[in-house]
Amino acid sequence: MPSVAHALEEFFSRTDGIRRARHASYQFQPITNRSHVTNMSTINAETAVRERYAAGAKAAEAKLCCPVDYNQEYLKVIPQEVIERDYGCGDPSRYLRENETVLDLGSGTGKICFIAAQVVGPNGKVIGIDMTDEMLNVARTNAPIVAERIGYSNVEFRKGRIQDLALDLEKLDAELQARPITDAASFLRADELAQDLRVKHPLVATDSVDVVVSNCVLNLVEPKSKKQLFEEIFRVLKKGGRAVIADIVSDEEVPEHLQNDPELWSGCISGALTEEGFLQAFSEAGFYGIQILKRDEQPWQTVEGIEFRSVTIEAFKGKQGPCFERNQAVIYRGPFREVLDDDNHRMERAVRYAVCDKTYNLYCKAPYREFFEFVEPLTDIPLGEAKPFDCSHTARRHPKETKGQDYKVTTEASSCCDGGSCC
Ligand SMILES: C[S@@+](CC[C@H](N)C(=O)[O-])C[C@H]1O[C@@H](n2cnc3c(N)ncnc32)[C@H](O)[C@@H]1O
Repeated sequence: MPSVAHALEEFFSRTDGIRRARHASYQFQPITNRSHVTNMSTINAETAVRERYAAGAKAAEAKLCCPVDYNQEYLKVIPQEVIERDYGCGDPSRYLRENETVLDLGSGTGKICFIAAQVVGPNGKVIGIDMTDEMLNVARTNAPIVAERIGYSNVEFRKGRIQDLALDLEKLDAELQARPITDAASFLRADELAQDLRVKHPLVATDSVDVVVSNCVLNLVEPKSKKQLFEEIFRVLKKGGRAVIADIVSDEEVPEHLQNDPELWSGCISGALTEEGFLQAFSEAGFYGIQILKRDEQPWQTVEGIEFRSVTIEAFKGKQGPCFERNQAVIYRGPFREVLDDDNHRMERAVRYAVCDKTYNLYCKAPYREFFEFVEPLTDIPLGEAKPFDCSHTARRHPKETKGQDYKVTTEASSCCDGGSCC
């Protein structure tokens, strides 16, 4: 049924577009001609996507399938109708760990959620988000079957748009059933109602998720909402959380006439960001440690000479916050002569650099840990007593700072020489 919420989504997405147009400095792909925006809203990419995937939920559509090598062990408990209506292009579930809380954006019939449920185990949790009722129906029907087969229930499916993860579309529907829209005033009040729901009953709360995954969905979000999409992924992640996203990217900018083709839009082509633009979007949303985990050498499709292929990327949240001086240092091990991190710390190989406590702790974890040596000061400075650290430039840390200016110790050769093997 085309719900009241759908009509409102249209309205909100349009007003959102108007707001966004006023801040048009941010663009993922250079738009040389402003008519592009008009064309996109005429076609209404989101409606094309919803209709195509509503059909794809009822019967498998071969054209939307991209071959993926899933771990067969996890597929054994998943009903056939879920597996055959698989429209993913990668497998982010491979990078999950036990006990994690996982959010799957554009969960479709639920395959990645059902695999994730087994990886995170009974103490983990999985939430699938999708905007298409028919997809949610298949996923929700099969959730109890999977739960019975694995022996626990840790998956739920919620209705929402992934670029607006605060708005619960089923709650909005219920509110509007009770207070229907009858005139222009009540139509406009619905905007306030939606905002109220976002604040009081968010679909996905801020800082609540360990890992956001997604499989072949981000490209389907309209250009005008893409910035908000990456900001939403960032918002819902806990500090220290990460995004693991598989999606289709292009090797060249997608020209306007391809962007305006609704069939190519819903087919995961037109909305693809370039490979570089995809990773840049995470960086601009505030993520760090962004890397390509998997990149298909062969394109999935080539259209007018432009290659569209699947990549899986990882990006971390948690570099924001105050910088404190605790006299810690790090040494980049190589193999490159120098590296530059997402906070603009430039470090040459084998040089001992002063870092703030926050950077030190980030480097101690994935994805940086293996690239650094860590040098703790001889005398610990408790965090509560630490002074602010100026992170605006990279400075060397003299060993005397690590050990203390009065350090004059002389020692005998260490006991490794007792056996005569190392001297
Ligand atoms: C290409 S399919 C991928 C489905 C699933 N991830 C898989 O691996 O099979 C895209 C899915 O994302 C949903 N979708 C697309 N755009 C969306 C949006 N803006 N918000 C929520 N769901 C969306 C569609 O309804 C569809 O179920």
